[in-house]
Amino acid sequence: MKIISIANRKGGAGKTTTAMNLSVALAKKGKKVLVLDMVPQANLTFSFGIKSSTETMVHVLHAIHALRVNPRPRRKKSK
Ligand SMILES: Nc1ncnc2c1ncn2[C@@H]1O[C@H](COP(=O)(O)OP(=O)(O)O)[C@@H](O)[C@H]1O
Ligand SMILES: [Mg+2]
Repeated sequence: MKIISIANRKGGAGKTTTAMNLSVALAKKGKKVLVLDMVPQANLTFSFGIKSSTETMVHVLHAIHALRVNPRPRRKKSK
């Protein structure tokens, strides 16, 4: 598995365009591609035709953080 991050603090640098075209190109070559849109404006998500979603990566990251801070207690095995 390869992880490709496209990041730059500068806006308008071509991150969204690169991410979309690169992911589509890799998928067309037969690669399994998972695109994670980490930007709250979600332009990359919208570029794939997804109009709206109540759950975003922010929710996923909050959930992961909450689990790390307060891990669920392990259930005792029933006898
Ligand atoms: N390789 C490129 N050549 C010319 N224009 C580009 C290129 N990549 C992106 N753009 C244009 O630049 C603008 C900003 O691109 P975008 O991908 O939205 O940047 P970012 O996500 O970094 O803010 C868009 O209008 C896009 O069409
Ligand atoms: Mg962008």
